[in-house]
Amino acid sequence: MSKLIYINASPRGDQSAAVQAGQVFLDALPASVEVQQIDLFDRDLPEVTLEITSAKQKAFINAELTDAESEQWRAIVELVDEFKSADSYLFAMPMWNFTVPYRFKQYIDLITHPGLTFTRDENGPRGLASGVATVIYSRGGDYAPKDGKPDPFDFQSPYFNAWCTLVGLGPVNEVLVQRTMAGPDVVGQAIEAATAQLQELAAAVG
Ligand SMILES: Cc1cc2nc3c(=O)[nH]c(=O)nc-3n(C[C@H](O)[C@H](O)[C@H](O)COP(=O)(O)O)c2cc1C
Repeated sequence: MSKLIYINASPRGDQSAAVQAGQVFLDALPASVEVQQIDLFDRDLPEVTLEITSAKQKAFINAELTDAESEQWRAIVELVDEFKSADSYLFAMPMWNFTVPYRFKQYIDLITHPGLTFTRDENGPRGLASGVATVIYSRGGDYAPKDGKPDPFDFQSPYFNAWCTLVGLGPVNEVLVQRTMAGPDVVGQAIEAATAQLQELAAAVG
């Protein structure tokens, strides 16, 4: 039995193109894979407070936390433990203003800390999480690389990839569902075009 965490960064439920494509992936998973879904817009995520930022700074220098810092830091450690409990990951990731939705950025800010999700050694930063990640990028327009060059407005995939590298997720398999603003027919075509890739990636989840 292996565990996959499915992190959904769209608030649009079944109307989300990424969620619709995510369902194709989920349907093709081996029966032995247990799935935990985290809908970030339905989660009561903590704010990043003075106490949390202080606790993070103190973690760098091994300083003692106040009671208030300890209490809020416990919620951070719980979120990190949940995140690291998976063997593999699926992300439904809309593009919002050229990058990831703010709720996913909030999640990153909550779980990405030295000693919890990454550390440093003589070779530089090293992730403390692990597992293959499949990310479905849903985008109103087309930001695929052209002529081998990345789209200059795509701040979504470079940012997501950099974060995955920091925390140790990889390889990162990217699935594109693009031009979703062109209407439901185009969404359907984009998902159909991605179906074989989604099914192949899902079947390979151990
Ligand atoms: C706040 C917001 C910002 C958006 N910014 C962009 C953008 O920069 N580029 C783009 O192509 N589409 C943009 N869109 C369109 C979404 O990427 C598109 O609707 C996508 O299908 C959303 O993913 P979902 O259907 O999985 O929720 C934006 C949509 C919203 C709500």
